[in-house]
Amino acid sequence: MCGIVGYTGPKQAYPVILKGLKRLEYRGYDSSGVALLNNSSLNVYKKKGKVAELEEFLIGKNVEANIGIGHTRWATHGEPSDRNAHPHTSANGKLAMIHNGIIENYAQIKTELVKNGYSFTSDTDTEVLLNFIEYIQTNNSCSLEEALRIALKRVTGAYCILLIEAASPDTIIAARKGSPLVIGIGKGEHFLASDASPIIEYTKEVVYVNDYELAIVKPDELILKNLGNETITPYVTKLDMELSAIEKGGYDHFMLKEIFEQPSTIYDCLRGRLDAAAGTITMAGVQLNIEQLKNANRIMILACGTSWHAGLVAEYIIEELCRIPVEVEYASEFRYRNPIVNPGDVIIAISQSGETADTLVALNKAKEDGAFIFGVVNAVGSSIARISHAGAYTHAGPEIGVASTKAFTGQLAVLMMVALKIAIEKGTITQERYTHLLNELNDVPEKVDAILKNSEELKTIAEAYKDASDFLFLGRGYNFPIALEGALKLKEISYIHAEGYPAAEMKHGPIALVDENLPVVFVATKDSYHEKIVSNMQEIKARRGKIISIITDGDTISPELSNHYFSIPTADELIAPILTVIPLQLLSYYTGVAKGIDVDKPRNLAKSVTVE
Ligand code: M6R
Repeated sequence: MCGIVGYTGPKQAYPVILKGLKRLEYRGYDSSGVALLNNSSLNVYKKKGKVAELEEFLIGKNVEANIGIGHTRWATHGEPSDRNAHPHTSANGKLAMIHNGIIENYAQIKTELVKNGYSFTSDTDTEVLLNFIEYIQTNNSCSLEEALRIALKRVTGAYCILLIEAASPDTIIAARKGSPLVIGIGKGEHFLASDASPIIEYTKEVVYVNDYELAIVKPDELILKNLGNETITPYVTKLDMELSAIEKGGYDHFMLKEIFEQPSTIYDCLRGRLDAAAGTITMAGVQLNIEQLKNANRIMILACGTSWHAGLVAEYIIEELCRIPVEVEYASEFRYRNPIVNPGDVIIAISQSGETADTLVALNKAKEDGAFIFGVVNAVGSSIARISHAGAYTHAGPEIGVASTKAFTGQLAVLMMVALKIAIEKGTITQERYTHLLNELNDVPEKVDAILKNSEELKTIAEAYKDASDFLFLGRGYNFPIALEGALKLKEISYIHAEGYPAAEMKHGPIALVDENLPVVFVATKDSYHEKIVSNMQEIKARRGKIISIITDGDTISPELSNHYFSIPTADELIAPILTVIPLQLLSYYTGVAKGIDVDKPRNLAKSVTVE
């Protein structure tokens, strides 16, 4: 939800900001802009559309400056347009600001400002906050920093803001609550951004700014304060990330690169944790809290989107292996429905970005109610990782494509290990089954590799069905959430309407949709539900639906019922979801590409949804 970049130092600011915005475009791409400060002359340029359009627009313009801020937007208040693009300029023309988040009480503040003679050139909450800051500064004859502090005490909502002022030509003032901010520390220069990707090629020393903190950033000085004006010592961390991790590396899209990275990302996730030969799983976050976890009265899983689907798979696995009741909740619903959380409850929070506002807010609520929070997060150092009592990272590396792929398989691998570890400690699994599942999990990277070698088959299937207007995805048991995930992926990047359903439930309604034009994707690997799902395939075939099936190598029945099928290696049914999702990721990818869609930046979406 919006990407922000700032620079102050000896370099030319514009190229640093432009490159940073391109890296952050996954966070929003409906308009972008920069504000550049050259001595005390403030130049603001902004444009509707992707960052490339801003770049083109700025050819030949004056972009000379050693300090600047830039923004790529995902619209909340006001349609995507030049005038709603950030940075915004205050009424007196002396301040420029960018913002990621939502000011919830903007209407009330705007009314006050209008009464005091202000008018607005955009529909955004950001312009309201900026003019409120200017109003306070003018009326109190105070510094910008002081005005900002006063303004933020009145504001409700979420923000990460960067502010520059014509009168302070080397200073950026930043503040955050609910939206991420990282500051890179260079030699006589500082970089500010929503995540580390714009910073990584200049420095690995970073400070993650916390909620309710304010940063005053000059080329050779970084001061952190809280809203009470007390100075805080910045905690400097070293980035554990290489530049190559955020580049396409020869692939046409980040999504394809990330799909093909899965053998190694899953391997990285298991490495150092799972030792199949020794029969052990080492996870400090689980081990240190094992009493809490194995004695949980109930586990509640909170997540959104693809991460929520990982939670559904985990529900089946944890209940099967650990015999602990599990509930999986959309984080956004949990937050607002007055849920019952008891001290013996464990919450598992699943998130790729670790910044999803719905999940974050729900977790804060659960934490207040006394729940123990275990985070399964991909982005190291992110907000969800930091508010969790314990957790396990998925170690999938930066995921840039808006459609989540490698983070999902990482989540499944982590959740499987967590379940196995609890089950063996609790005594709800036999040693034999434990050893078997450890070996099965250990074999996953190799099996994913084998699936990817046949990716061209899915390209052919995608070509055949790219013009369909609807799809149905069906699965049973452990593969039911994979049907949901397949449908979500297809919707996101091909804009084809798709529904995921439990295969047996299909006859209670969706079967009415079936005719010769409806492709129905069955996730029908050999498991304890196989005979039943074959019957469901018969039901679709009898109504002339087009069947595409994901099946286990050696299955001879399903191919006869299918118009197209894709085989995957044999796997235990608890492990199968990590494999069955891969062909569905590829099917969506190739369908999106065949339809000419920018699969890394599909319309209306953003990678990190930092608004509620
Ligand atoms: O970063 P998170 O895992 O918390 O994000 C949750 C969802 O926004 C995310 O999974 C979304 O559904 C993806 N676009 C799915 O591909």
